[in-house]
Amino acid sequence: MKTFELNNKQTIPAVGFGVFMIPNDGPAYDATLAALKAGYRHIDTAAGYCNESDVGKAIKDSGIDRSEIFITSKLWLQDYGYENAKKGIETSMKLLGVDYIDLYLLHQPYGDYLGAWKALEEAYQAGKIKSIGISNITVNLWNKFKDAMTVMPAVNQVEFNPFVQQKELRKVMAENNIRLEAWYPLGHGNKDLLENETIVSLAKKYHKNAGQIILRWIYQEGVISLPKSTNEERMKGNIDIFDFELTDEEMKAMQALDTNKPSHNPEDPANETRLMGLKIHE
Ligand code: A2P
Repeated sequence: MKTFELNNKQTIPAVGFGVFMIPNDGPAYDATLAALKAGYRHIDTAAGYCNESDVGKAIKDSGIDRSEIFITSKLWLQDYGYENAKKGIETSMKLLGVDYIDLYLLHQPYGDYLGAWKALEEAYQAGKIKSIGISNITVNLWNKFKDAMTVMPAVNQVEFNPFVQQKELRKVMAENNIRLEAWYPLGHGNKDLLENETIVSLAKKYHKNAGQIILRWIYQEGVISLPKSTNEERMKGNIDIFDFELTDEEMKAMQALDTNKPSHNPEDPANETRLMGLKIHE
């Protein structure tokens, strides 16, 4: 598995397995174990996915050394604010069954964000979390929060795929050496994307499937991707992208597919209201 270097020199596997919407108590355990068997060494979960305990169990049962697996989790809004965040970090570590987390993110940009960030910074300084980062942060939100941050976030995890290229945000993140991570790298299975002519013709040329072309393009863009699949063949295929290379022209053809229309707008007040109302515990 190829890796990228983060701004604090930690390395991160370039492709991770995302477990969003895979239920706990079985399915997330099976999916994580299958992903580790398929060769993934980077699992992306979140307190808000409510499947950290399955992920943790699968990691233990895989027999793979903890130090070889990169675990990302995220703090949910209900646990924002300095004191709650300290407890939230402990809860994630307990559910995952680990004594450190590789990367921990603030999942959504609402509530007492900076109080929660302070708790992440302290856990980072204490070595409980090896890297800390942000998620769903737009340029406007970055400008709102950045001056109060002491530790520079290592990553910003946002919606990113050939149709949603976040060009302005990428420029600002690159200026600060914050690496982008892609959620919905395959457009959440969007047929228009997976059947796009440019992508399908590249798939034919390289004897790969459309998903692999997209994930290879994301890799060559220097972005970490978190594809999800419950199908073992596709799961394996999605990390089998390091034996070919898109040319500069092909990269440009992919860059031209941007529609600049994310499915999720973090600045929409309706999203703030909806997400602030989602409770994951008492
Ligand atoms: P499946 O689980 O049947 O493989 P995203 O990661 O952007 O959220 O996309 C996940 C969706 O894309 C799932 O519906 C998944 O279905 C599908 N998918 C995963 N890998 C591929 C691939 N290589 N080609 C086409 N579809 C894929």
